Amino acid sequence: MKAARAATGHLGRRTQALRRGPEPAVRRRGREETADESSGRQSGFGLGSGQGIGAKTAEVLAEAGAVVVVTDINEGTGKAVAERINAAGHRALFLTLDVTQEADWKAAMERVCSELGGLDVLVNNAGVELIKPIAALTLEDWHWITGINLDGVFLGTKYGIWAMTEGSTSRPKGGSIVNLSSIAGIIGSGFQSAYNMTKGGVRLSANPPRTECAALQNGIRVNSVHPGVIQTPMGEHLLKEFTALGFGANVDETRQRVRQLHPIGRLGEAIDVAKAILYLASDDSSFVTGRNWSWTGDSRRCEGEVCHL
Ligand SMILES: NC(=O)c1ccc[n+]([C@@H]2O[C@H](COP(=O)([O-])OP(=O)(O)OC[C@H]3O[C@@H](n4cnc5c(N)ncnc54)[C@H](O)[C@@H]3O)[C@@H](O)[C@H]2O)c1
Repeated sequence: MKAARAATGHLGRRTQALRRGPEPAVRRRGREETADESSGRQSGFGLGSGQGIGAKTAEVLAEAGAVVVVTDINEGTGKAVAERINAAGHRALFLTLDVTQEADWKAAMERVCSELGGLDVLVNNAGVELIKPIAALTLEDWHWITGINLDGVFLGTKYGIWAMTEGSTSRPKGGSIVNLSSIAGIIGSGFQSAYNMTKGGVRLSANPPRTECAALQNGIRVNSVHPGVIQTPMGEHLLKEFTALGFGANVDETRQRVRQLHPIGRLGEAIDVAKAILYLASDDSSFVTGRNWSWTGDSRRCEGEVCHL
């Protein structure tokens, strides 16, 4: 029950709606709730939550009291995350979703609205990395990475706003959208140009919607986060690729060099980013929108405009 109490602090608006109900609708208290009972609760929708930052964020949001919809293109890893959350006494469901497919988005959002009564938090997390010299990049590479990193965020924002406004039924309107950019969306680095360009796009992705949402007064906030190197499967892959390019004699040496780019003295962990997302998802940040949040262990300081390993 500790987690439920913590949730009241973190996920204020929706948990207050909870308290107003005839009976707190918390599944872990022992019985199946009806759709109506669950409709006052905060729901979070995480993309690419099968591993890494997305998986940790799904767990952190669930611990804070949200009903979490875990989605991923990889059914095996995504289902495992949802099962872990449910086994811990929180609530999650899994939906297969390819962020590049509009039909997947439409179906998922309609289901979230009909089963959970609406959407409060959307985390546009799914992303891919590509380490290659720019002259070796093919148009196919470009379409692949922009499809996931940019089309995905566009579609997520479009359908997220729909589910948080018109899609909502008995819930208060509004919500929080959090887009995963990167330090690579703020500064350029060699061999990552396609990734840099997509994450630069995601950096701006918070600004037009937040202006629009403010003008429409629909209660939706949009922010982006910009992590430094985080130790996830993607982070490990990046170290291997840079090692293959000769940035270190082996992965450990490359890791050491990359760590030195983070003045705080360590690489990030998925939990560091998940906690930042929890803040942006919750009412603790209710006056915060249109911001680019750096979670980089201060790594911008040593790089200026370009990152040299
Ligand atoms: N790890 C880092 O160092 C780092 C740093 C800065 C930003 N980021 C960003 O954070 C986000 C998460 O990174 P991560 O390190 O957890 O990555 P990861 O590779 O460990 O996990 C990414 C997840 O996205 C899913 N995914 C990929 N394509 C998909 C698609 N088309 N549809 C749905 N899901 C899809 C994968 O299956 C996987 O579960 C990404 O957007 C990444 O660019 C990561």
